[in-house]
Amino acid sequence: MRAVLCSSNAHKLAELQVALPGWELELLHADEYPEEIGESYYENALAKARFGRGVSPSAAWMLGEDSGIEVVALRGGPGLHSSRWSVRWIDELLERLEGAEDRRARYVCDLVALGPECQELRGTGTLEGAIGKERRGREGFGYDPIFVPIGESRTVAELGDAWKRSNSHRARAARALAEAAASEPRTCSLRPGRPPRSPRASTGETS
Ligand code: IMP
Repeated sequence: MRAVLCSSNAHKLAELQVALPGWELELLHADEYPEEIGESYYENALAKARFGRGVSPSAAWMLGEDSGIEVVALRGGPGLHSSRWSVRWIDELLERLEGAEDRRARYVCDLVALGPECQELRGTGTLEGAIGKERRGREGFGYDPIFVPIGESRTVAELGDAWKRSNSHRARAARALAEAAASEPRTCSLRPGRPPRSPRASTGETS
């Protein structure tokens, strides 16, 4: 299956290429992406896939992805706003959690694939863990140097890209998406930017 990932993030592409075997994935070539104004990861992922459909002549599937980190002590923030929350996002988070005992957090990812005939598939995935006290490790991106998955003592940046390609929230969402692809896809929602009433969602395993 040929699909265009509506993102400019090469890390995300690398993770999804491994998690979606049999999918021929490439990054969308676009100078700008739509603003992330949805009320859920799903809405933002759908908006990216629709944007890709609009600017790309390709008959391939369009894959939209949206993800973020949710910190319990910040009442689930920065969540949807993870990428634009702060220019010094890691330091800001470490400062906000200074002295905090509850450091639980999770990564969340929603993937939406739109087919050439307006079919729609969805997969979601999460990775539970905690925010460490300092940066450790060099791989991954974003919050990975301070995110320690549950059951691990190392950060995602220390565990590395190979670990991440099998275990990340994105890999889990991709597996859920592949499962949804194996069953019959629903028809696209026609209301712009809003989720369909009963999306064919397949949820990735949590933890
Ligand atoms: P998006 O590109 O709009 O989906 O923004 C996602 C933001 O959430 C990124 O800029 C990161 O700050 C954070 N994030 C999402 N996934 C990851 C991940 O796998 N590792 C580290 N940070 C992530």
